[in-house]
Amino acid sequence: MTPADAVLDGLIAEAEAAMARAYAPYSRFPVGAALLTRSGETIVGCNVENASYPASICAERGAVMSAVARGLRDFELLAIVTNADAPAPPCGQCRQVLAEFAPTLPVVSVARDGRRERWTMAELLPSPFLPASLGEASTRGSLTDDR
Ligand code: THU
Repeated sequence: MTPADAVLDGLIAEAEAAMARAYAPYSRFPVGAALLTRSGETIVGCNVENASYPASICAERGAVMSAVARGLRDFELLAIVTNADAPAPPCGQCRQVLAEFAPTLPVVSVARDGRRERWTMAELLPSPFLPASLGEASTRGSLTDDR
């Protein structure tokens, strides 16, 4: 096993643990996500559903929100774990949120039987709408810095 394999296995284990904490009483489709940052930290997320269904949030976006709140925005690898028959790719909204910070991020998803699939964000979301896509519009308001 190479060090890279060990890192990925560890990340998947963290995503699995996060999946076990998912709050998904409506869909009964728990999802766990684990983001590896360039600084070597792992930030996890799980889906958290709500009785007002659209207020629910996906595991991947939960992980990104948590990472950014901790001052971490440089991502190296994302692991997703579900109980689905086939490895589940991130949903469209999550792809957009992930692309903001990591438009070429490698993504590995693991199905119930352990089968893995790997994509890059560039494959999952080609031609993304990025901060630069705003062009001059991004400096039009009162928020003129890039924070
Ligand atoms: N879900 C995620 O957490 N990530 C995805 O990329 C796809 C869907 C969640 C949302 C909802 O709680 C459940 O899975 C079923 O859609």
